Amino acid sequence: MYTWEEIEKFVNHCGACPLGRTRNHPVMGRGDRKSRLMLVAEAPGAQEDLAGVPFVGPSGKVLDELLALAGIRREEIYITNILKCHPPGNRDPLDQEKEACIPYLKWETYLLKPRIIVCLGRVAAQRLISPDYRITREHGTWVERKGCSLTAVYHPSALLRDPARLEVARKDFRAIGEKLRRLEAAEP
Ligand code: URA
Repeated sequence: MYTWEEIEKFVNHCGACPLGRTRNHPVMGRGDRKSRLMLVAEAPGAQEDLAGVPFVGPSGKVLDELLALAGIRREEIYITNILKCHPPGNRDPLDQEKEACIPYLKWETYLLKPRIIVCLGRVAAQRLISPDYRITREHGTWVERKGCSLTAVYHPSALLRDPARLEVARKDFRAIGEKLRRLEAAEP
């Protein structure tokens, strides 16, 4: 098993797929490495690629608003992506890229041992919950796996494109906040 520092070093020097040659900065997960809550999104966007930090662009602002509504501060959770490198033009990650990158997420999950995993958007939900996951139908529902509760919500970028979905996203985030607080009360 590897340490956080080793995983970060692997990510920083990764050449497992061609994205390592086109990205500016790899984007390792960020946040509290002892958190019970892990958010998993798709892949760094253009601004994250420049900064090397997840969710610093406009979608990060939406995410912070939703977290605030749920009573959750960004510093108290761990946020990561399926891909650690930006796909040019923000296209969907290719299967080959997901397969090359997934060991990093597995190591992050192993070290963090989250009790709640929230998939931000379809790509993460289809990789972590079920390959035929339909975000419009299934967002906000929970599955239990090996002592961990998983759910998916609309991706913040999808909410920027379609603000009509904000209300359901707010509801889903409030439920996530409540679940986290119940867990903290039961296991301080
Ligand atoms: N979109 C993502 O999926 N991940 C980020 O880190 C930023 C935007």
